[in-house]
Amino acid sequence: MALILAIESSCDDTSAAICRDGEILTNLVANQKVHENFGGVVPELASRAHQANIVPVVSEAIRLSGIHKNDIDAIAFTQGPGLMGSLLVGISFAKGFALANNLPLIAVNHMQAHVAANYIENKNLVFPFICLTVSGGHTQLVYVTDYLKMEIIGNTIDDAAGEAFDKAAKMFGLPYPGGPLVDKLAKEGNATAFKFNKPKLADLNYSFSGLKTSILYFLQKETAKNPAFIQEHLSDLCASVQTHIIDILIDKLEKALTLYPAKAIAIAGGVSANSGLRQKITQFGADKNLPVFIPAFQYCTDNAGMIGIVGHYKYLEGDFCDQNTLPLARFAF
Ligand code: KG4
Ligand code: ZN
Repeated sequence: MALILAIESSCDDTSAAICRDGEILTNLVANQKVHENFGGVVPELASRAHQANIVPVVSEAIRLSGIHKNDIDAIAFTQGPGLMGSLLVGISFAKGFALANNLPLIAVNHMQAHVAANYIENKNLVFPFICLTVSGGHTQLVYVTDYLKMEIIGNTIDDAAGEAFDKAAKMFGLPYPGGPLVDKLAKEGNATAFKFNKPKLADLNYSFSGLKTSILYFLQKETAKNPAFIQEHLSDLCASVQTHIIDILIDKLEKALTLYPAKAIAIAGGVSANSGLRQKITQFGADKNLPVFIPAFQYCTDNAGMIGIVGHYKYLEGDFCDQNTLPLARFAF
């Protein structure tokens, strides 16, 4: 039986979780509101906020889970990818805690953890499966043959899906992060109201920069004729953009299924919280006769629970790291 304290601080969420034998007892996330007015995460502000949040978040996670800090067997932390200043706060805390309490350290890849978020509540998950990992910084198709055995088979060559949501939202005048707002407004809009360019890549890679440019040119043209165009069509714009992004995501997933034998489909990452994507992928799985696994909302966006679950499987394999381990801003698996 292993009790793991997990820390996540790769971007703008400070999170701590307690994982006992693969079960998440507590998963606490402190969001940072300081970025809202900047249209994106400001790295310096993010690391300062992590520094202010990390001790209270960890203390509260320990308190809420009803454990004693002396019972902890290992510390898992996000090694990367992420913002260097943000990662440094989490890794330094983890090292200090491990040193003071004589505990082993477990380094976790953030993107692998997003995939592993599916293991937290889906105990009947079958291998191999293909996971569509869609976040603010990444868009990946991952072929998963065992808990920690994963291969990236598709990647974005420019923007990530979450970035596409956030940048479209910014063009609509919505605050950062715009993804959840687009999702909300899209519910009242017509998804076929507007047409934008879609990428024509033949392989399993994604591209969202063409869509972004197409939205920008369309808005420039329409607002030149009618300055109130965006306000008057906001929900239709959100619904149309959301549908384009989801279609692009699912098209490549469909192609991947023709190339890799899979018994199931999963989604992960912040954008997997999107209600349109959750709905469409569920229908897609039913059409393909494949089970679909979707993490609970709290495990879609950045959280330490997903770091804890990777920590759990790495602990079982005895895969520990030492005090010399450094954060890695870019970290493939
Ligand atoms: O995984 P995540 O929390 O952080 C990264 O590792 O990037 O993903 C954050 C991204 C942001 O771009 C945010 O706008 C997007 O996930 N997001 C959503 C929704 N909730 C979060 N995008 C669309 N619809 C949502 N409901
Ligand atoms: Zn993430």
